[in-house]
Amino acid sequence: MPTTSLPTTSLPTTSLPTTSLPTTSTPVPGGLFVSFEGGDGAGKTTQTRLLAEWLRAHGREVVLTREPGGTELGRTLRAAVLHGEHVDARTEALLYATDRAHHVASLVRPALERGAVVVTDRYLDSSVAYQGSGRDLGADEVERLSLWATGGLLPAVTVLLDLDPDVGRARLTGDPDRLESEGGDFHRRTRLAFLDRAAAQPGRWLVLDATAPAEEIAAAVQARVTAVLSAGAAR
Ligand SMILES: Nc1ncnc2c1ncn2[C@@H]1O[C@H](COP(=O)(O)OP(=O)(O)OP(=O)(O)O)[C@@H](O)[C@H]1O
Ligand SMILES: [Mg+2]
Repeated sequence: MPTTSLPTTSLPTTSLPTTSLPTTSTPVPGGLFVSFEGGDGAGKTTQTRLLAEWLRAHGREVVLTREPGGTELGRTLRAAVLHGEHVDARTEALLYATDRAHHVASLVRPALERGAVVVTDRYLDSSVAYQGSGRDLGADEVERLSLWATGGLLPAVTVLLDLDPDVGRARLTGDPDRLESEGGDFHRRTRLAFLDRAAAQPGRWLVLDATAPAEEIAAAVQARVTAVLSAGAAR
């Protein structure tokens, strides 16, 4: 992957937004919470790293993390839920919610409270798309479960890297995990679920074509993050 040169756009130096979180979330003063969503192979890990690198180059503290598995307990849960014995859909949803509850309580909230930018590779919207729509548990119920687990914490910015699941799958190497092994219909449902959620909450979401070059995607993400930080600084 080509390296991305750092853009010249400078980040505002004053304090970060405290009121940009949606009304269902609990505002955490100080930091900025950014999540990346999308199907397998869409480029989430690539883009979370590029954003973290760019923010650090501009002097921000960044906590780069992921779900499931952003904590020690989370890594045990990740192994169980993606590579362990078969579990039914409700058990799967609860395992993701447990990972998320602990992740938010022990890592994400403390980081936001001290003013860091938290960049996570997947968050609540993945559960709503995969367990709610992919597994057919119902988007609203799965969302409520995760909102309860996290005390209502939603990101200020959620980037959807939108990609045809067949294209994403072709990018992957290695053995597929439990969700990657699901069929084409499952992945098409989750893609549509992400797009529906993004359309319903355009203020939080930034939907990008994941077939674009990685540097172009990174620049679009940087522009949105800069805008959100600037809006917070102006308040
Ligand atoms: N914009 C892009 N265009 C083409 N290939 C890309 C792009 N972004 C990432 N890739 C490549 O696609 C592959 C998957 O990228 P990456 O691991 O970032 O995706 P991911 O969404 O994190 O995947 P997973 O769901 O498996 O974690 C990697 O080989 C990466 O180099
Ligand atoms: Mg990844």
